[in-house]
Amino acid sequence: MLNWDDPLAEAQVEEQNAIANIPSTLEKLDGDANILPSQEMPATQKESGATGLEDIEMGASRICVDDKKIINCRADLNQLVPFKYEWAWQKYLDGCANHWMPQEINMTADIALWKNPNGLTDDERTVIKRNLGFFSTADSLVANNLVLAVYKHITNPECRQYLLRQAFEEALHTHAYQYCIESLGLDEGEVFNMYREIPAVARKAEWALPFTQSLGDPNFSTGTPENDQRLLRDLIAFYVVFEGIFFYVGFVQILSMGRRNKMTGVAEQFQYILRDESMHMNFGIDVINQIKLENPHLWGAEFQQEMIDLIKKAVELEIQYAQDTMPRGILGLNANMFTEYLQFIANRRCSQIGLPEQYTGVNNPFPWMSEVLDLKKEKNFFETRVTEYQTGGALVW
Ligand SMILES: [Fe+2]
Ligand SMILES: [Fe+2]
Repeated sequence: MLNWDDPLAEAQVEEQNAIANIPSTLEKLDGDANILPSQEMPATQKESGATGLEDIEMGASRICVDDKKIINCRADLNQLVPFKYEWAWQKYLDGCANHWMPQEINMTADIALWKNPNGLTDDERTVIKRNLGFFSTADSLVANNLVLAVYKHITNPECRQYLLRQAFEEALHTHAYQYCIESLGLDEGEVFNMYREIPAVARKAEWALPFTQSLGDPNFSTGTPENDQRLLRDLIAFYVVFEGIFFYVGFVQILSMGRRNKMTGVAEQFQYILRDESMHMNFGIDVINQIKLENPHLWGAEFQQEMIDLIKKAVELEIQYAQDTMPRGILGLNANMFTEYLQFIANRRCSQIGLPEQYTGVNNPFPWMSEVLDLKKEKNFFETRVTEYQTGGALVW
C-alpha cells in the first residue's frame, strides 16, 4: 500500500517490481492479435462477475481466500470473511474511527466575518463561493459514481464494505457544504448551479462525467479486457484525478484561509473532508494496483500512455481552475505556486499507480498540506477540538 508520506523513489521501485511481468506489447484492446495466449482469460472469467444477488446455493463448498478476486469474481459476495484484502478492511476500520459530523463544527465566527462588510475582500469571498460551488456538486457526482457505476463491478466484500463507508462519507461531505452554505446565508441556487454556470467549475465535472456514464450503462458488465479497462479507467479518473487532483486547489485555498484565521469553521469542515478524501484516494489506488496485479494484461503500454495523457490534461484543467478562482494573488498564494503544486501531486499520483513522473524539478510549495493530513498532529491544527469521535452520549433512547 502506498501512502502520502511514502518516499517517491521507494514507491517507484515497489511498483516497478510489481509490474515487472506485465507485457508491454498489449497496445490495443480490440485487436485479438494483442492478447497473448498466456494472458487469455479462462472461460469463467469472460463472463461478468457475481453481484451478491444470485440465488443461494445450498450446500455449496465453503469459500476460501483463493476464491476471492477484486473483479470478475464468481464466488458468493455476501460473505465478508475470510479476508483476502486486509488493506481494504483496515481502511474501513480507519474510516469509522475518523467519524465526524458537520454540525459539530462551530460556524459562529464565520457567520460574523461573512456578514461584516469589511470582513473579507471580494477575492476572498469569490474563493469561498466558487469552492462551495464546485465541491457541493462534485461530492454528489463522486457518490453517484460509486453507487451507480463502480460498486457493482468490484466483486469483493471487504472492498465493498469500504465503498459503503465511503459512500456515507460522501453524503457527509455534501451535508458539510450545505451546512456552510446555509450558515453563511448564501444563495443556494447560485452555489449549486455553479457547475452548470461557471466554466471553471463546469469543466471539471464535464471532464469526469463520460467515465462514469460509460459504466452506469445498465448493459455494461466487466469480463472482457475492453470492459475491464473501462472500469480501470473510471477508477483512475475518479480516485486519482477527481479526488486526487481536482480537489486540491480548493483544499489549499480554503485551508490557507483557516491558517490566516479567516473562515475557520469552513476551513475545519474542509480539513475533515480532506482527511477523508486522502483515505478515499489511497483506497482507490490500492484497488487500481490490485486490479493490475490480478489482470496484468489490462496494463499495456498504450493504456498507460492514455492514463498519462489523462492525468496531464487534468493538471491543465486544475491549473485553469486555480487561475479562475484566484486571478490575483491573495492569502500568500499565486498561480505559479498552484502550477508547481499540481505538478508535484500529479507526479505522486503517477508514481502511486506505477506510471513515470511527468514533471521534472518540481517541489511542494505547500509542505503544510502534508501536516494537515497527518492525524497525529491534527489535534493542534486549528486549536479547536480533538478529533476523537464519541456518539454514545449524543444518543437519546
Ligand atoms: Fe467527498
Ligand atoms: Fe471522496
